[in-house]
Amino acid sequence: MTILVTGGAGFIGSNFIFYWLREHPGDRIVCVDKLTYAGNLQTLRPVLGRENFRFVRADICDRAAMDAVFGEEQPEAVVNFAAESHVDRSIADPGVFLMTNIIGTGVLMDAGRKHGIRRFHQVSTDEVYGDLPLDRPELLFTEETPLHTSSPYSSAKAGADLLALSYHRTYGFPVTISRCSNNYGPYQFPEKLIPLMISRALAGEKLPVYGDGLNVRDWLYVEDHCRAIDRILTDGRVGEVYNVGGHNEMRNIDIVRLILRELDRPESLIAHVEDRKGHDRRYAIDPAKIHRELGWLPETHFADGIVRTIRWYVEHRDWWEAILSGAYRAETEGM
Ligand SMILES: NC(=O)c1ccc[n+]([C@@H]2O[C@H](COP(=O)([O-])OP(=O)(O)OC[C@H]3O[C@@H](n4cnc5c(N)ncnc54)[C@H](O)[C@@H]3O)[C@@H](O)[C@H]2O)c1
Repeated sequence: MTILVTGGAGFIGSNFIFYWLREHPGDRIVCVDKLTYAGNLQTLRPVLGRENFRFVRADICDRAAMDAVFGEEQPEAVVNFAAESHVDRSIADPGVFLMTNIIGTGVLMDAGRKHGIRRFHQVSTDEVYGDLPLDRPELLFTEETPLHTSSPYSSAKAGADLLALSYHRTYGFPVTISRCSNNYGPYQFPEKLIPLMISRALAGEKLPVYGDGLNVRDWLYVEDHCRAIDRILTDGRVGEVYNVGGHNEMRNIDIVRLILRELDRPESLIAHVEDRKGHDRRYAIDPAKIHRELGWLPETHFADGIVRTIRWYVEHRDWWEAILSGAYRAETEGM
């Protein structure tokens, strides 16, 4: 089968492409990515020359380009990772978030309807549920939790979810949605918490922690997320939402301390900075439905996954240093 993967030059999309081609070597992947600042073609180097892989630089908001690639490739399924994904950037400049995350999803679904795809999987986020109080640890997000967004990023993701569900109801379009908690692992852009802190610690620079650092996130190793999407694509019911989470709640400050310990750097590098506007306190996912219906469970324990991840960034300094210096854009500009 041919799967069209959008946003595959980013963090989770690239991990998904590596995962899929390893687990399903007979399938073909067509990756559509605009190569925004968050897209890095270097990441896809291991698969770029393969016969069953094609990279197309295009914007998912571009109707003509999407029509052309769907027409040429006739994909059976689409997995839509393409998004503007950084909450801080959405607070500074919401417009592009509305464009890519909502309009782009609509354009892709229209192309999918026209070309008769069999499945459209929308990769969403637990942030669409808003946040939970720190003093009610028993509360978890289920698929029935009302949407209650805090940032332009999460609002745009929620808009895409609603649009996707409406395409299912109105046109019978075969949509599934996964709402996943925070991912960590290789190839994450070094503006996000874990790679940012690792790169700063290795450089001996200050590690900026928002507010008191007590905000809680539920962390999942990226490959477990990829396996969850595989299960949903294979056996998930269309029109359904599946929460994906690791039952692994950690305070931001504890993650930062763990990274410093692992890299043998002093805690004096921590610098508390002014809190993010509208900062969500706690996210926690109840993944009971995907476990019950599809047998999915996370396989990577956080204690192992985080050490593996830290080592990956230590051993792949060239990957993230090229991003910090801007050198990673050179190949992109030549395209
Ligand atoms: N990172 C997380 O912890 C997390 C958790 C839950 C859900 N998600 C969702 O997973 C998806 C992937 O997240 P990520 O962390 O890998 O993001 P990322 O920012 O690392 O990658 C996004 C990719 O999308 C591409 N892109 C952006 N705008 C585009 C456009 N208009 N057309 C085509 N390509 C475009 C970028 O070039 C980049 O390669 C997003 O939809 C995000 O909302 C992420």
